[in-house]
Amino acid sequence: MKNSFLQYLVTPAPLAQLPADWHGEIFRRDAPLGIEIGFGNGEYLVRWHHARPDWNLVGIELSMESCERLMKRLVAGDISPVRVIHDNARFVLRECFGDNSVSRVVMNCPDPWPKDKHKERRLIDAQFAETLSAVLTMGGQYELVTDQPWYAEDAHAIFSADPRFALAPLEKGLQRSETTRYERKWLEMNREMTRLVATKIAAAPIERKCKDNRMPHAFIDREIRDEFVKPLCGLEHREGEDLFIVKSALRDMEEDRYILKVVAADQGYRQSFLVQIKPHETGRWLVKLDPSVQPYRTPAVKMAIRQIAAALVEPAG
Ligand SMILES: C[S@@+](CC[C@H](N)C(=O)[O-])C[C@H]1O[C@@H](n2cnc3c(N)ncnc32)[C@H](O)[C@@H]1O
Repeated sequence: MKNSFLQYLVTPAPLAQLPADWHGEIFRRDAPLGIEIGFGNGEYLVRWHHARPDWNLVGIELSMESCERLMKRLVAGDISPVRVIHDNARFVLRECFGDNSVSRVVMNCPDPWPKDKHKERRLIDAQFAETLSAVLTMGGQYELVTDQPWYAEDAHAIFSADPRFALAPLEKGLQRSETTRYERKWLEMNREMTRLVATKIAAAPIERKCKDNRMPHAFIDREIRDEFVKPLCGLEHREGEDLFIVKSALRDMEEDRYILKVVAADQGYRQSFLVQIKPHETGRWLVKLDPSVQPYRTPAVKMAIRQIAAALVEPAG
């Protein structure tokens, strides 16, 4: 039977246990694992599969359009051991991949974000290197190809400062037979490509936000009425770099419950989700995530459940 479009798309957020079991649960075969971050039109990942069909490959990409393009290629080629995650690689790499589990991570022509005010959007920083030092296998490699010499130099400085990596000298003026779409575009504009390869030589544990990814909930011992829920709209709270805000609070007449639309961010990783407040069979009221949207159960998401319940127990004013 031919593979179908959606079987390639993986959404690890609802899994009770993270990092995910890629070999056992997702690919169902033991094989080296490779990741391409920001795969664009997906041609590199498909070529990688043809060169190493014995590997399990995952592409992580922010753009849904790019994910669809890759999935079309995968269906057309009837390719099995490749999966796609539509999300921010900075978060996903750390939360969804276990220690010593990934043999190679590749990034071709990432957006360099050259302006200082956009610096935080750059993928490569000390924290990203730290994540790689955990998820890569010993001897596993991170490879960056970029058209921006300063970006390669920056990355080189970051990885050189990390004793968990050995670095090859930057390969300037890289010429390779198989290029990516952006690489061809930059080469046509006479830009030189530079390659950085960092090899993991030591490991250190990292802290993951979603280690306990179970559904958070809270019980309220009082009858909830409209006047308690209305003021929740606009409720916001911050703890360190984690925060949330309640964007709207609505009554669901059909199901006798309230629905809150919430946005939460953990160190800049943003998620929108719904929280329901509804009567429970025990006679109490229950505050929990609405299952129609499945966020990662990060500290900011858990904080939202806790603080909403607290605000219902003791309304402000
Ligand atoms: C300049 S394009 C390069 C595409 C492709 N690698 C190539 O060489 O043709 C950068 C890609 O990275 C993706 N991207 C940017 N930031 C990302 C992130 N944090 N996580 C995952 N993908 C990201 C963008 O959506 C875009 O498709």
